[in-house]
Amino acid sequence: MINREAVAELDRLDPLALLRDAFALPRDRIYLDGNSLGALPRAAVSRVQDTVQQQWGADLISSWNRHGWIDLPQAVGEKIAPLVGAAPGQVICADSISVNLFKLLSVVSMLRPDRSVVLSAADNFPTDLYMVQGLSGLLGEQRLRLVQVAEAEIADALNEQVAAVLLSHVNFRTGRILPMAGITAAAHAVGALTVWDLAHSAGAMPVALDDCQADFAVGCGYKFFNGGPGAPAWVYAAERHQGSVQQPLSGWMGHRAPFDFDPDYQAAAGMLQYLCGTPPILSMAALDAALDLFADIDMEALRAKSVALGTLFLELLDKTELAGQLRLLSPADPAERGSQLAFSHPEAYGLVQAWIERGVVADFREPDVLRVGFAPLYNSYGDIWEALESLRAVVATGEHMDPRWAQRQKVT
Ligand SMILES: Cc1ncc(COP(=O)(O)O)c(C=O)c1O
Repeated sequence: MINREAVAELDRLDPLALLRDAFALPRDRIYLDGNSLGALPRAAVSRVQDTVQQQWGADLISSWNRHGWIDLPQAVGEKIAPLVGAAPGQVICADSISVNLFKLLSVVSMLRPDRSVVLSAADNFPTDLYMVQGLSGLLGEQRLRLVQVAEAEIADALNEQVAAVLLSHVNFRTGRILPMAGITAAAHAVGALTVWDLAHSAGAMPVALDDCQADFAVGCGYKFFNGGPGAPAWVYAAERHQGSVQQPLSGWMGHRAPFDFDPDYQAAAGMLQYLCGTPPILSMAALDAALDLFADIDMEALRAKSVALGTLFLELLDKTELAGQLRLLSPADPAERGSQLAFSHPEAYGLVQAWIERGVVADFREPDVLRVGFAPLYNSYGDIWEALESLRAVVATGEHMDPRWAQRQKVT
């Protein structure tokens, strides 16, 4: 029988429990939305303060050399690399996922000039689909077009017209993990390349880009890496693909000698070519500091805690009167899902809003999805217990039916 004491014992035994103190979490909130925006690491606060006051304020432009600003995109990329199973020299921090996808989709189209299809899942994150649509508009459908099928049908839809498969490793709504190794092998078998979006897996579970023979990948800095709102993203290109073609956003930071001010673009070697304009130092510094929290983390232990948090949530939910009302959209088998759970409920928006009013932060996704995310670095088992107590209270009082929730905010 799982009770409050048993949950407290899980926290006492948790090898990651001490990391919670590394975050400036508000005491009166339970934060189950780290899959959208990671919490604030204390180290990011001091790093940003120093970057603003000392580096920018006092040392001014000399900081590009003196404080290594110019090398920060590479330095941050190398911190991310081991967390996603990439050997050095294959990851760089830059721009947003969307912009990095533009670069990669262009590259795959150049690497497979006789093929025009980018194959993706019907419910992939919209920006991934939009970026294909945008590039297709620019290049023309003969050169590049989007074909979407259900996630489960990707392997069957592969053929020799497919230039690349573009997939999220973990589905943003359901949390379903797609088999990276199997899909990559199947794509390669027909001569197609793979572009993986790791927004919902990097920092939440072990990822093995090199071992899976992935070709390209992108991910963000603001979810499980805790780099802050709008933190810069990152891009991975397997070494074998570097240098063969150039990504087309040929800004000066990707030039092999930006300070030569050469009127002709000459691409830098390796991942530097994936840079475009001046890096956003303040937000990259925050991400850099946040990533240090992963330095000694065993990603298998992190994954084990993520699975345990999700399993506890479902076990406790099962014991409440809510069990029959919230329909689980995520895979029931924890091995098949990432660090989140999604449920459908006709009043999902009201549930989320009323829950937030009681201090538990989750989020809503159209059309009727309530999502809860588990950040194993800072969520405790006690958080899950409290969150469910609070959800029961919401439903018991009918707070989720409040007419105020008929009006949705811009960000849900
Ligand atoms: C799977 C996935 N891809 C991309 C994005 C957003 O990309 P960008 O960094 O361009 O805003 C998100 C945002 O939540 C996401 O979940």
